[in-house]
Amino acid sequence: MRLFVALALPAQAADELDRVVAPLRPAWPGLRWTGRDAWHLTLAFLGEVDEKVTGKLAGGLAGAAAKRPRLPLSLHGAGAFPKKERARVLWTGVRDYQDGLKALAGSVGKAARVAGAPPAGKGREYHPHLTLARCREPVDVRRLLPDLDEYAGTPWVADEIYLIRSHLGARQRYETLGTWPLVKDG
Ligand code: 2AM
Repeated sequence: MRLFVALALPAQAADELDRVVAPLRPAWPGLRWTGRDAWHLTLAFLGEVDEKVTGKLAGGLAGAAAKRPRLPLSLHGAGAFPKKERARVLWTGVRDYQDGLKALAGSVGKAARVAGAPPAGKGREYHPHLTLARCREPVDVRRLLPDLDEYAGTPWVADEIYLIRSHLGARQRYETLGTWPLVKDG
């Protein structure tokens, strides 16, 4: 099964972002916009994982989460991968007030490797983001980005990690397989 590990977005953060993104969807119909219900912050994409490994993976993720602190975060600004002139992915960025996301993603990746479900994209730098749209063909989004550049969402505290199964198909669907709490600071 196709799995990834992520942080969820509270309803308020999603509502706020949705209000800003809503007018952009019809204005840029060439982009495949992600829906509010699918929004998340990926920590590690594991790809196809053998069912036999999932028990060990769950234990590993629980252990990793239990060693990492809760993280105050907010969404802000925007950018594009690989570059704004020829975007494949349009994203909003993450303000990571305690600079803990990279370490959390690292711990999650390590736990997944130990369990036998190594994350894809080995060696690629982790760049926290929330995907707003994907493009089959590269799109120049330079005229779009100013509408999102100033975006600054209300902060929240991420307090658990999610193991999510992605069901591919005509309508992509995400299913939460497990959640594990991060540690309360102090
Ligand atoms: P994203 O955070 O940029 O959207 C589920 O597919 C999630 O895992 C997506 O949200 C996606 O990234 C992330 N992901 C990372 N690498 C991926 C890959 N090689 N294929 C599909 N999804 C990937």
